[in-house]
Amino acid sequence: MNKQLSTKHLLGIKYISREDIQLIFHTANNFKEVINRPIKKVPSLRDVTVANLFFENSTRTKISFELAEKRLSADVVNFSAAASSVKKGETLLDTVNNILSMKVDMVVMRHPTPGAPQFLAKRIDANIINAGDGTHEHPTQALLDAYSMQEKVGNLKGKKVAIIGDIKHSRVALSNIYCLNKLGAEVVVCGPPTLIPKHISALGVQVSYNLKETLEWCDIANVLRIQLERQDIQYIPSLREYSQHFGINRELLDSLKSSPVIMHPGPINRGVELRSDVVDSDHSIILQQVENGVACRMSVLFLLASKGKVEFS
Ligand code: CP
Repeated sequence: MNKQLSTKHLLGIKYISREDIQLIFHTANNFKEVINRPIKKVPSLRDVTVANLFFENSTRTKISFELAEKRLSADVVNFSAAASSVKKGETLLDTVNNILSMKVDMVVMRHPTPGAPQFLAKRIDANIINAGDGTHEHPTQALLDAYSMQEKVGNLKGKKVAIIGDIKHSRVALSNIYCLNKLGAEVVVCGPPTLIPKHISALGVQVSYNLKETLEWCDIANVLRIQLERQDIQYIPSLREYSQHFGINRELLDSLKSSPVIMHPGPINRGVELRSDVVDSDHSIILQQVENGVACRMSVLFLLASKGKVEFS
């Protein structure tokens, strides 16, 4: 197995190899063991300063990165656009250059504009990790999703994964598709025709508009929320109607020959894409995804920083 990632940044799953993903998972296994110890900290990034730049709202990703950095003993600075000089008209590049002048080594960035992390990577020296760029990619979400799938059902080669919901506006869907393809899974995207991009089959996935058939077929269902904040026009008649056709509830799961593993990246709209009797059931591994997110992000930070070896025993 490779000991180094092939890339200096994590801008998207599209730009990393299958070997990179396997190295990230292998390293995450070690960090998962670390974060379950009574003392959850290792000194691996002791001399590294990480800036978390969030130009868009986040709960899970922001907390997960911050915990991952602190568990690796990095120095951490947090930036939120709402409370910054961005509001006074400062450009993205000026904002980041000012932060980097304070000797920051790594930047974790969430931004509403697709391509914003690529733009920065071409202009600054620090390692950049994309924490979600508009409707483009959310690579660490896809890594933690695939890691959690593998933990639950084993090697993903030949496994059947359905991605269900608002595929059109979802960076999680695109990063999941790239990641699952690289790991050899079969992927179906399922949702209303208006929320599935026309040429998505060019990415090597199949399309279904029938939720029950899709759930009968798949080993794992990764369910996404309707991203009303990104919808410029009305793509569905109402959330109530969406829920009737594409919402998953206990009766639907009980009517299947075998129930798939249920996943969701969060935030969940309870009662729309998933009813509470599914979210909180044994079928769901949603909270395991969140736990694995910290280990996967520790792995990415550690490998990108390339600061030598860490002792796991
Ligand atoms: N899954 C995810 O990206 O959640 P947040 O928007 O809360 O970070």
